[in-house]
Amino acid sequence: MRDEFLDPGIGAAADDVVASEIELEAGLRPRALDEFVGQRELKEHLRIVLEAARKREQPVDHLLFAGPPGLGKTTLAGIVATEMGVHLHVTSGPALERAGDLAAILTKLEDGDVLFIDEIHRLSRAVEEILYPAMEDFQLDIVVGKGPAASSIRLTMPPFTLVGATTRTGMITGPLRDRFGLVARLDYYDAEELQSIVERAARILDVSIDSDGAWEIARRSRGTPRIANRLLRRVRDFAEVRADGTIDAKVAREGLALFGVDDRGLDKVDRAILTALCTTFNGGPVGLSTVAISVGEQPETVEDVYEPFLITQGMIARTPRGRVVLDAAYEHLGLAPPRRSSSGSSLFD
Ligand SMILES: Nc1ncnc2c1ncn2[C@@H]1O[C@H](COP(=O)(O)OP(=O)(O)O)[C@@H](O)[C@H]1O
Ligand SMILES: [Mg+2]
Repeated sequence: MRDEFLDPGIGAAADDVVASEIELEAGLRPRALDEFVGQRELKEHLRIVLEAARKREQPVDHLLFAGPPGLGKTTLAGIVATEMGVHLHVTSGPALERAGDLAAILTKLEDGDVLFIDEIHRLSRAVEEILYPAMEDFQLDIVVGKGPAASSIRLTMPPFTLVGATTRTGMITGPLRDRFGLVARLDYYDAEELQSIVERAARILDVSIDSDGAWEIARRSRGTPRIANRLLRRVRDFAEVRADGTIDAKVAREGLALFGVDDRGLDKVDRAILTALCTTFNGGPVGLSTVAISVGEQPETVEDVYEPFLITQGMIARTPRGRVVLDAAYEHLGLAPPRRSSSGSSLFD
């Protein structure tokens, strides 16, 4: 199983632990744009797009949210629906196996509704082709019958808003991307923003925490609200069992250390990746799948969940020949960086 702090939850709903995490997460989701912390520029753009649509009394343009897991893409889809006062329909790329799966959802949409497709980069070609005329002209092509007798009928559907989310903009086909009116990238949050997210979650969960305690959690949350909220819950457990229930800086530090979250917010999988690169693979370059196997994770999980943050921390880099580890990683693990040949150009030759 993926690491509990990072699991995006998708496709694992059968797992009871994950299911309850998803429920908890839903309770913490901001419902209005004003409650959504950070991402200032994105919020500004969204506010304008929503306001304009309301004025025209038309549905919002199709929106694409891109960025690493846990930064608020699903939350934003819900906010768009709430702010527009319409229904939200949720599905995901992998769940839509055949064209008919999407057609079934599209025929249920009412005027102005929001259809959220998570992991939209994983749509099949056949499903994508149904989506194009739906997005562009609100037309739905349905094939009736089979073989040579098959014919296609065209239905007009009520205008709707498609909100797509992806962890990989690079994997979205050009034609699909071009059909979105707004493509917005979510960035990692800074520690101040995460601190207010932790404080907000603590209020909702009725956890007593002081601002230093919130800060300790925030700065170890890998720039990610989902992780901040999960660390808060783990530290709350710790505070209830080992302290008087109140989270201050000391309790937060001790609790996080107990759960294997280190001073920079790296967890055991992060450290396993770095250790493998530094020691087993002598600093790299090494291919993604080899790294993934060596830490017992799926390559996509390593690529989407773990690497982006390690890259922002200057600990690893992606090169045409594979992953390489940088000096900051050796330093973090308390290892001596290897001596490199003077030119240092060996990576790309
Ligand atoms: N900007 C934000 N402000 C407050 N909470 C947030 C924000 N972004 C995300 N969250 C919290 O983090 C959790 C994960 O967000 P989510 O929208 O599911 O991320 P994604 O869909 O990008 O993986 C949610 O439960 C929500 O409570
Ligand atoms: Mg999501």
